[in-house]
Amino acid sequence: MLKYNQKKIKDLYKHYLYNSFSICYPKKTHRLTYCALHSNINQNKYIMRTATVRSSTMPPMTATKKVPAKKDAAKELSDLFEDGLKDLYWAEKALFKALPKMQKNATSPKLKKALEDHIGETENHIKRLENCFESMGKKAVAKKCDAMQGLLEEGKGMMEETKIGATRDAGIIAASQKMEHYEISSYGTLAAFAKVLNEKQCLDNLLKTLDEEKKCDKLLTSIADTELNRKALN
Ligand SMILES: [Fe+2]
Ligand SMILES: [Fe+2]
Repeated sequence: MLKYNQKKIKDLYKHYLYNSFSICYPKKTHRLTYCALHSNINQNKYIMRTATVRSSTMPPMTATKKVPAKKDAAKELSDLFEDGLKDLYWAEKALFKALPKMQKNATSPKLKKALEDHIGETENHIKRLENCFESMGKKAVAKKCDAMQGLLEEGKGMMEETKIGATRDAGIIAASQKMEHYEISSYGTLAAFAKVLNEKQCLDNLLKTLDEEKKCDKLLTSIADTELNRKALN
């Protein structure tokens, strides 16, 4: 059962559980409360219980129509590739603006340093994307990335909803890792496209950045595991 001296991390965990649960089941918050109060802080158990609730209350699948393409929809892989670059270019620029605030809100010296280093890396990620556009003879254009905007808003909300200290640090790591995972997934896909399209210079740039995103993600995991999550228990 949940221990009361574990309140801080419990609150943070409930916040996340609520967010992911309410997306699928906006009216099932009473079930969420049940889960949160009757589970211990074992992530696997939470996931298993949540999965059980989901499967038993899943609405029946309904047939969907094919979505009509917009006038300027991508026709071939090269168009999709260029769209992806524009999307990431926007995402990296937005991250470059947002990361300093997260870094200032962090209190753990290790986390502060990791975020500071990643701000410098992010600046390079922007330059590498510009280099990609240039190597393809295209102008660097940013196209609003709805996914990253949502993740950044969640990161901002996370800071507002956590007390400064280890709990906010744990929240900043959680929010940052969602952003890193988005980047890892996007760079991985674009690198695969660049390979097929024989865009060698782009591929080289994308793989370099992908490697840095993965390293940053691993570092954040290790900071959370070795220091912060336990500290946020009391
Ligand atoms: Fe990046
Ligand atoms: Fe990143």
